[in-house]
Amino acid sequence: MADSTQQPKSRRNRAVIFVAGAFIVGLVLLIGISALLININTRKQEAVAPIVRVVDIQDGETDPAVWGQNYPREYSRFMLMEDDTVPTAYGGSQQYDKLARFPAMKRLWNGYAFAVDFNEERSHFYSLIDQKETERQVVVKQPGACANCHSGDAPNLIKSMGWEAFNKGPYEAITDTLHSAITCNDCHDPDTMALRVTRPAFANAMAERGIDLSKATRQEMRSYVCGQCHVEYYFEGDNKLLTFPWEKGLNIDNINEYYDEYGFKDWTHKETGAPMLKVQHPEFELYSTSIHNQSGVACADCHMPYIREGALKVSDHWIRSPLTNVANACQSCHKMDEAKLTERVVTIQTRTAKLLRETETAIIAAIDAINAAKAAGATDEDLKEAWDFQRKANLRWDFISSENSTGFHSPQEAARVLGDALNFARMGQISAERVTMKLTGQPGSDPLLQINTDAVIGTTPAEVEEEMK
Ligand code: HEC
Ligand code: HEC
Ligand code: HEC
Ligand code: HEC
Ligand code: HEC
Repeated sequence: MADSTQQPKSRRNRAVIFVAGAFIVGLVLLIGISALLININTRKQEAVAPIVRVVDIQDGETDPAVWGQNYPREYSRFMLMEDDTVPTAYGGSQQYDKLARFPAMKRLWNGYAFAVDFNEERSHFYSLIDQKETERQVVVKQPGACANCHSGDAPNLIKSMGWEAFNKGPYEAITDTLHSAITCNDCHDPDTMALRVTRPAFANAMAERGIDLSKATRQEMRSYVCGQCHVEYYFEGDNKLLTFPWEKGLNIDNINEYYDEYGFKDWTHKETGAPMLKVQHPEFELYSTSIHNQSGVACADCHMPYIREGALKVSDHWIRSPLTNVANACQSCHKMDEAKLTERVVTIQTRTAKLLRETETAIIAAIDAINAAKAAGATDEDLKEAWDFQRKANLRWDFISSENSTGFHSPQEAARVLGDALNFARMGQISAERVTMKLTGQPGSDPLLQINTDAVIGTTPAEVEEEMK
């Protein structure tokens, strides 16, 4: 019995010693592992954002140089946006006259300020300079609302003047208070450096769609900050409130429906009298229909890719065409030759450009046919149907033409929209021809003479470059 009780007791003791030993070993391991984790974590943080606060940055600070004292790596890249010498086949940072390169635009926008002055855009560095200098400010008295997307001073002015007065007042009245181009404060909270939305029009439009910005993920914010400005917009009502037409959705059919319901027009076409709509830079909208967006890729992934600065990883604040930076912008995800990747982009763009040119020819044919019907004595009532087709076709052409990726952001959707535009243009032409026939017994013109027979403008980058010379 003694032995038998002795036995379990010593076994129990051994078990206790074993458990205690295991516990101590476990504890040591645990401490070791967590020390390692903490170490890795600090290193990770160091590698991503080594914050050395030299100055205390106030909310509303518009001078990037002040922010640059704390974040010199981002600031030095940011300042490279001053370079406006690098062109690409269809985009790039070099300013050029788009009306000269694509002369059809003058007739398509006849009667509107864009037919007077329209250039290939430059970088954020020039956002305020280019807005102050455009001829569109001369031919039309523009409202303060223009400054929403072109000046880092906008958030401060909205705070001091109020949302309505800021938008409504003439641009002239605030010109002298606008000093800063797009700046750090527009995208970052100075305390945490987290991305933030500073523009009310974007916040309002998202709220209208039932999207709670306070719940946005970090990856969503990497597109939302851009969606504050790279979007289609209009000025609503007498107060000229900057508004995005997104209530029914982001594609062009939703936007068309929205404007029709609202009874909106941007201008009256000078030749035909049609009530027209102008589209501007709908990057966020077109991109939202893409495979890249559906795969969770954000604007910043291609336009602000990570770069190495010594041992550190920073987001490239030299925002520009990814075609000037394919290695960082695309090869992080696509293990493909740089030249091949560039060729894929330019092939998509050239196909889109060809469709754009064909659509322009078709819309001009519709305009000519409407003009002929008017000359034959058509009334406004007679032309309603043709006008509506002109408006629909022009809106869709403009949606892809004014979008700055020349189709790359969503190639299939771009082709779909231009297919519809071509169809609407030809329907407008047929509609007007019928009116002329009814009034005169003769067709106004021979529609078949107005088909674009230009050769396909190159499907390789080399041919495109030749075309540009
Ligand atoms: C998958 C990569 C990718 C993503 C994501 C992306 N873009 Fe682009 N973007 C491009 C490419 C490629 C071009 C064509 C550049 C060219 O023609 O030189 C372009 C062109 C542009 C341009 C015109 C640049 C120029 O040089 O004229 C703007 C503006 C732009 N994108 C904004 C955006 C915005 C805003 C988003 C998010 C809503 C976005 N992009 C998402 C790849 C991307
Ligand atoms: C919702 C934001 C937003 C508003 C409001 C806005 N812009 Fe812009 N603007 C942009 C973006 C984004 C670009 C660059 C892309 C492009 O040029 O398509 C741009 C480009 C420009 C350019 C350079 C290219 C060109 O068109 O020649 C000028 C000039 C300009 N805007 C003037 C104006 C004027 C004038 C107003 C007021 C009627 C205005 N902007 C209102 C966002 C905006
Ligand atoms: C148009 C919007 C925009 C502007 C303007 C902007 N940033 Fe950023 N910044 C971003 C985005 C997007 C990221 C990536 C954030 C993320 O991935 O969470 C970023 C990241 C950062 C980070 C975190 C570390 C890194 O590099 O990823 C710092 C620091 C920073 N920016 C500093 C600045 C400074 C300084 C300026 C002005 C000189 C500036 N930013 C202007 C959009 C902007
Ligand atoms: C506060 C408004 C605003 C915000 C926010 C903004 N942009 Fe822009 N962006 C503009 C304007 C305005 C221009 C045209 C400036 C000009 O032509 O003078 C422009 C130009 C560009 C260009 C053309 C650069 C070139 O060299 O031709 C690209 C690319 C671009 N933006 C991408 C982005 C991306 C990506 C984001 C988000 C990370 C973003 N932008 C956020 C207003 C904005
Ligand atoms: C963050 C990752 C990421 C980056 C950066 C990226 N892509 Fe993609 N790309 C994808 C994913 C994911 C798909 C979808 C693949 C699929 O579903 O088969 C895709 C699809 C594509 C496609 C086919 C679909 C289409 O839209 O035509 C092309 C072409 C393409 N990428 C080119 C580029 C180019 C050029 C760049 C740089 C300007 C780039 N990508 C940058 C992830 C990325």
